[in-house]
Amino acid sequence: MGGFLETIWHKLAEEIGGEAATITLTALVSAIIWPTLVWCWGKILVLRDFWNSRRRALGAVGQLRTPDGQREGKGVWALKPITPPENYKNNVLGSRILAVANLKGGVGKTTVAANIAAHLASDANWQKRVLLVDLDYQGSLSSMVFPDGQTWLPPKGADSVATMALSGQVNPSMFLQACKESPDEPRLKVVTAHYDLAQADNRLLVEWLLNKRGNDPREFRRKFADLIMGRAYQPNEMRYNLARLLHSEAVRENFDLVIIDCPPRLTAGAVQALCASSHVLIPTLLDGPSGESVVSFCDQLEEMKTAGICPHLGYVGIVASRHAAQQNAWLAVRREIQDQINVRKLKCGFLPTETFIPQTVDIVRHADQGIAYFSLQGSQPAANAKKAIIALAEHVAAQICVARVPSFARDLQLVLPVAAE
Ligand SMILES: Nc1ncnc2c1ncn2[C@@H]1O[C@H](COP(=O)(O)OP(=O)(O)OP(=O)(O)O)[C@@H](O)[C@H]1O
Ligand SMILES: [Mg+2]
Repeated sequence: MGGFLETIWHKLAEEIGGEAATITLTALVSAIIWPTLVWCWGKILVLRDFWNSRRRALGAVGQLRTPDGQREGKGVWALKPITPPENYKNNVLGSRILAVANLKGGVGKTTVAANIAAHLASDANWQKRVLLVDLDYQGSLSSMVFPDGQTWLPPKGADSVATMALSGQVNPSMFLQACKESPDEPRLKVVTAHYDLAQADNRLLVEWLLNKRGNDPREFRRKFADLIMGRAYQPNEMRYNLARLLHSEAVRENFDLVIIDCPPRLTAGAVQALCASSHVLIPTLLDGPSGESVVSFCDQLEEMKTAGICPHLGYVGIVASRHAAQQNAWLAVRREIQDQINVRKLKCGFLPTETFIPQTVDIVRHADQGIAYFSLQGSQPAANAKKAIIALAEHVAAQICVARVPSFARDLQLVLPVAAE
């Protein structure tokens, strides 16, 4: 190589002189060597990223070795590092965001979420601007709020709003525009979900485990930092995508309260919901298997809180839904759950019995025509169900510090339309 360069230098020197030949040759060599070095360095970083991502993903899903053999690990969601957004603690503590969650399916999460939202939005004493967020790919909440057909479905080829929100692909103002207004109550808006969310939940988990870089505007800065430092790259903290959106100024200004209907699994969406929420409400049936699932869910929540993923999440409590008060077996189940929770010293308990939503066909029948709350009437069971929904909604509101409309403001609203006429 040295001999080759020397020959070229001599040839050049004959033509343009020694000093100019040295400068030209140095420039030429630099122009070739520098990009080659940069390219190699980039490839080394790609390899390093690949190795780290593989180790991170396999470590997160890996089994534990115990004296009794291999056991499943504690799950992926507590994976470190945990880097919440700036000002996260103040934002959570200052927000009114309720996750309605339980890992058991069919226990009334969607029914409870929709009906308490309906009361707080439409009742003259409350009149809250409520955002309902559907995070279940089945879209049960979306189809309950918009019962008449396809109006809420995402346009063909497009993803649902829930998918875009969880993926961090919308900014707050686009998000607000995409929320759909309930046909029964203009103060009630909905983030709709559809089957694309099932795929999005998987994608988000895999991308996050593999440290996939986002397509956000910081991409170039990250690449540059990687190139120079080889370590400055921070993976996108997917767990807080929804928190970033719901804690934004635009969303806070437009809504007094957000209620999130969670799916019956710890999906990427459910974890994002817990990270964004100030409180969690746990609906359950009061039978044996459902009781066990409540305790197990509380254990998982505590693990997440202790790990620092959602350390500020508070419990509203546990509420019975589809409650059959006349069968006394529920009393023993409630006692059993409460005992288990007391043993664990959790700050979570049952809500008062008057907030338990009774089992009634009226709720099922009305669910096909929109949120049952808006049409529950005409029979004693319907009246009882509505009374319980109101009690539950008002209990939840008190717990998460949502205030009633002051009486003078209500009186003013009654007077103003008359004055305008
Ligand atoms: N109080 C009630 N009385 C009678 N039926 C009810 C009551 N509450 C809910 N249901 C019915 O029970 C079923 C499950 O309710 P819901 O969809 O609210 O549960 P979920 O926990 O959200 O389910 P999933 O886990 O699938 O999301 C629905 O068919 C609903 O109509
Ligand atoms: Mg549901």
